[in-house]
Amino acid sequence: MGKERLLITGGNPLEGEVRVSGGKNTSVAVIPAVLLSDEVCTIENIPDIEDVHVLADILRSLGAKVDYVPGVHMVIDPRKADGYQVDYRRARQLRASYYFLGALLGRCGKAEVAYPGGCKIGSRPIDQHLKGFAALGAEAEERGGLITANAKQLTGNDIFFDMVTVGGTINVMLAAAKANGTTIIYNAAKEPHIVDLANFLNSMGARIKGAGTDIIRIRGQQHLHGTTYAVIPDQIETGTLMIATAATRGDVTIHGCIPTHMEALTAKLLEMGVRVTDSDDSIRVRFQSAYRAVNVKTQVYPGFPTDLQQPMCALLTTAHGTSIVQETIFEQRFRHLDELARMGAQVRVMDRTAIIEGVGQLYGAPVTTTDLRAGAALLVAGLMAQGITEIYELEYIDRGYEHIEDKLRSLGADIRRETFF
Ligand code: EPU
Repeated sequence: MGKERLLITGGNPLEGEVRVSGGKNTSVAVIPAVLLSDEVCTIENIPDIEDVHVLADILRSLGAKVDYVPGVHMVIDPRKADGYQVDYRRARQLRASYYFLGALLGRCGKAEVAYPGGCKIGSRPIDQHLKGFAALGAEAEERGGLITANAKQLTGNDIFFDMVTVGGTINVMLAAAKANGTTIIYNAAKEPHIVDLANFLNSMGARIKGAGTDIIRIRGQQHLHGTTYAVIPDQIETGTLMIATAATRGDVTIHGCIPTHMEALTAKLLEMGVRVTDSDDSIRVRFQSAYRAVNVKTQVYPGFPTDLQQPMCALLTTAHGTSIVQETIFEQRFRHLDELARMGAQVRVMDRTAIIEGVGQLYGAPVTTTDLRAGAALLVAGLMAQGITEIYELEYIDRGYEHIEDKLRSLGADIRRETFF
């Protein structure tokens, strides 16, 4: 069987209107969370991406019934789910497989999940997850590539995270939702998908307060019921489309997004000289005049998201002046820069800082995706480059962006997927 690559002939300004898909990082938490319910749940706005298909497959392997109609809903019946093991073959396909630890602990007090995969952007330890489970009374350990957690009875407790961790916050929320008593998470992550997961769990009868602040209180419940819930739009897809529009000097209105989730990016684009205006649920991005270089430092929400650092670097390659980009969340999230350099970008990396000297133009070249958001960076670069860019290793992009080339094509991009042998 052949492999696929994307071919982009750059230079067309993106123009028109586009609708953003449901959030990846919220969907990958909400889908495992259904195991905490005693009844059928219907989830709407789930994006049709590879990570979602893998999670549905894991749920089925545990005994749940999953009916996924992309673009409509995913109906999950967890009543006969009696499995508690997620094998290596499935777990390694994505990071979010570790949410089955918290969800299964909450459901049946035991979980065995092979060490998760996901983008290789740093060492990504899970010590805080295990510390959280232990605080709730579980015996949790990682050995031989397998994480096991067992508890006769989960009991609410205070947990203070050593660093802000999105995955750790979600996993502890999942386990604590059905623990005996109250759990308080201090130094919790505040990302929009943390709030969305709390809203989802509360719609099943959970008692979670404070999500979106750094202290979350969870009063455990014995039973959670079924629900119908629509996940929030994808903040990172919104940002990727905003950056791609700016990069091609275009004019696009993105519908169905939440502009308040985008403030860190919007502020940076305005600082560069991009025109950005918003309404309740849409954002319009327009070219105004030549872009100025800016400095970017990734931070936890509401700071500049690490997931947009990579596409933002692509945009900055042609801004006027020197941009300094600091990556503070993951140790190895600059692998896209070597590929951008092949396209003519002037970049130097010193430890966790990238120095980007703006050049007049990028030029199409064959490039390879090394992780999901590196793929987004290469898409942006290909759209703005002169000539043809070939992007390889598309499975990373397909893991997280729903029908991205169709969306870009509808905005005027010259992009197509082809099989090669
Ligand atoms: N960390 C630890 N110990 C832990 C947990 C985290 O040292 O127990 C460290 C990590 O190594 C990292 C930092 O804390 O340096 C933050 O990690 P976090 O746990 O917040 O990240 P994550 O849960 O692994 C999620 C998203 C990422 C996103 C980050 C930060 C999912 C499935 N993944 O990862 O999304 O970059 O939060 O916002 O939700 C992506 O979508 O491309 C992506 C990588």
